[in-house]
Amino acid sequence: GTSRGADRYEITQRRVTAEILPGVPTELWTYNGTYPGPTVESRRGRPVTVLHRNELPVPTVVHLHGGRTPAGSDGYPTDLVLPDGWAVHDGAHMPSDPRAVTSRVTREYTYPLDQRAALLWYHDHRMDFTAPAIWRGLTGMHLVRDAAEDALDLPRGERELALTIADRAFAADGSLAYPSLDPELRERPGVTAAYAAGVLGDVIVVNGAPWPAHEVDAVRHRLRLLNASNARHYRLEAVTDDGRRLDLVQVGADQGLLAAPVTHTALPLAPSERYDVVVDFAGLPPGSRVRLRNRLGAGRTRDVMAFRVARRAYDHSRIPEELCDDLPVWRRSQATAVREFAFRAGHTAQGRGWFVNGRPFDPARTDVRVRLGAVEVWRFTADVHHPVHLHQTRFRVLTRGGRAPLPHDAGLKDTVSLRPGETVEVITCFDGRRGRYLFHCHNAEHEDMGMMANLEIV
Ligand code: C2O
Ligand code: CU
Ligand code: CU
Repeated sequence: GTSRGADRYEITQRRVTAEILPGVPTELWTYNGTYPGPTVESRRGRPVTVLHRNELPVPTVVHLHGGRTPAGSDGYPTDLVLPDGWAVHDGAHMPSDPRAVTSRVTREYTYPLDQRAALLWYHDHRMDFTAPAIWRGLTGMHLVRDAAEDALDLPRGERELALTIADRAFAADGSLAYPSLDPELRERPGVTAAYAAGVLGDVIVVNGAPWPAHEVDAVRHRLRLLNASNARHYRLEAVTDDGRRLDLVQVGADQGLLAAPVTHTALPLAPSERYDVVVDFAGLPPGSRVRLRNRLGAGRTRDVMAFRVARRAYDHSRIPEELCDDLPVWRRSQATAVREFAFRAGHTAQGRGWFVNGRPFDPARTDVRVRLGAVEVWRFTADVHHPVHLHQTRFRVLTRGGRAPLPHDAGLKDTVSLRPGETVEVITCFDGRRGRYLFHCHNAEHEDMGMMANLEIV
């Protein structure tokens, strides 16, 4: 800490050449030279400031996903940190409304973090170019801790594993393959379609390593799962050598602890969702293996990573039946508005894209104005799969497909995965801060193609 009472970090955004595939150099865009970027850990209510310096060849914007942050530090898509030597009037790279642009080479972001313990993550959020920036490596984790979580005897220390799961594709020379960055490829219809649907890779990368194997003691482990993929969905299961599926005991969602644990044998994970699960390796023979698999994958994308059981050990962790009792309860009868948002493909004079209520993102337009403190029900509909994310707020899933939510919808979330054709209702209270925020699809290509809207809290 410093005399100002805030923890202060400095992050330089820069290119590095690293080895993701063994023996093959890959150029990455990084926070402080690593992929993923440094994991920041902080305490609830203790402000953090992060000074970002942009040494990349393109403008950037940093968003702390899940953070309840003043609008000026939320990483609005036109709130750019410019590369050295760039000027605001460099017209070719300006968004449609130049008045919305502020920029500088370094920028200090301030995060009050007056919020429950949770796994947040930070990533690039530049208008129209978020997807390639994330693909090239601009993601990192931010863990918020608090006393309520400390009081539980969940697995900790080396028995708590924070896992950034993402897929990537590589060209023959080791560079990251991303369809829309190559103007020649982009003209080929198959590639255009792959871009529009959301870019997938055939290599599963966990904490920067392809299909890693991690050594564990034969005890409970807490897995903090983040799907940092641009577009890939997972349905994770933990499978032993003899084909047994271990329970995934969910203790937390995007926005922190659940009221009570929920046991899954497979857990869906949409882009940007986080799940906090406990897996028990007790009773597995030393030398055996547990594979974390993706039931939605095919061929080698069915595998995610493995745990190799090293030795028996004493386990002092437990999973209490009640995890917390301070979750806000919002009732439909309190809601002062019910709003509808359709997440669908569409076209305008400028071409095809992915839109919210028929319109592509426009920084100059306010799409929704809500009152600070209002409880509202938001009803989302989808044509294809869209993980819908709200900045600044946490919500509960009220209904899914006209029925009760599914077991994995439990708790406070900031992203909800709409399945094809599905309607999902969420309820929230806009009790954070006033200002201009966003909501959008977290399929990063859909977001870049316009599936984002402005939320103004007044
Ligand atoms: Cu994870 Cu608006 O973003
Ligand atoms: Cu966010
Ligand atoms: Cu989408």
